[in-house]
Amino acid sequence: MKATAQAHANVGLIKYWGRKNEILRLPQNGSISVNLSGLTTTTTVEFDEDLTSDEIIINGEYQHRGNRVSEHLNRIRNQAGIKIYARVESINSFPSSTGLSSSSSGFAALTLAGSSAAGLSLTEKELSILARQGSGSASRSIPSGFVEWLNGDISASSYAVSIFPENYWKIIDVVAIVSAGKKEVSSADGQKLAGSSPFFETRLSLMKDKISVMKEIIQKKDFRLFGEMIESEALEMHAVMLTSQPSLIYWSSGTLELMKLVRKWRSDGLSVYFTINTGQDIHLFCENKNYTQLPKMLEQLNYVKKIIINYPAGGARIINKHLF
Ligand code: PMV
Repeated sequence: MKATAQAHANVGLIKYWGRKNEILRLPQNGSISVNLSGLTTTTTVEFDEDLTSDEIIINGEYQHRGNRVSEHLNRIRNQAGIKIYARVESINSFPSSTGLSSSSSGFAALTLAGSSAAGLSLTEKELSILARQGSGSASRSIPSGFVEWLNGDISASSYAVSIFPENYWKIIDVVAIVSAGKKEVSSADGQKLAGSSPFFETRLSLMKDKISVMKEIIQKKDFRLFGEMIESEALEMHAVMLTSQPSLIYWSSGTLELMKLVRKWRSDGLSVYFTINTGQDIHLFCENKNYTQLPKMLEQLNYVKKIIINYPAGGARIINKHLF
């Protein structure tokens, strides 16, 4: 009863911010994302009759009882009809809690490894539904490539599907890590404040159209429109965060400097656009032809601590190499 899974974090192109059901983690709107090749979580789960509680190690650190991983193991145990505790070990290839969505890859890998170790054989749709309850964005790390999370009103209809495969469009997302510091408010908590922004209802009224426009843009591989849309979408989501009560400011000075620099680079002729989640780190999208220039320019900035190059990546999968 041991299994290991690997999943990639995804970045929202049309974002998920605000939930209509907190317990089931049903979002207020559908969203679109892409899985990222350089941001990976690997997780091994083993159910063991001899354990008297769950033993969870994430990035080398023991986790205390009552955490979200144990809650998710309970969902898996309920579904499998077992009452056995589990040993879980999980590692990320990238910094956690700085806005790179480690919860998306983390809960996707946990869902696949945990359900397999529990003897369940779930479909992609069932895995996505289960992963969503651990962390909403994890539903989108189950399918591969470019993904849409459907805006369902009940648990059974709120899941993600692949809309274009990973090799459909070779765009590049250079992640710039501008701070290793953890964010003050987790996105799980921040999501609860979305509805308190006076702009939230307006945002919601625009989402359905945004989703269909984004699908068309990806289908046509129109990079300029793609870039313009992800950037304005990220700023719109942050406008809701900035105006919620209490207000959420996720950016650091490095984030802001880089946002402005991206615009300068664009006016100088480099086709690069940004998107940001809940954190300081920033995703810079470019096309293959600009790939060599961008990392070099980023390396010259003292506030950029590290960069990670990503291509569109596949979905969650079982691997044979266990962590213990
Ligand atoms: O970490 P979660 O599952 O609560 O989702 C965070 C959502 C954002 O990253 C802020 C936006 C998105 O769509 O990825």
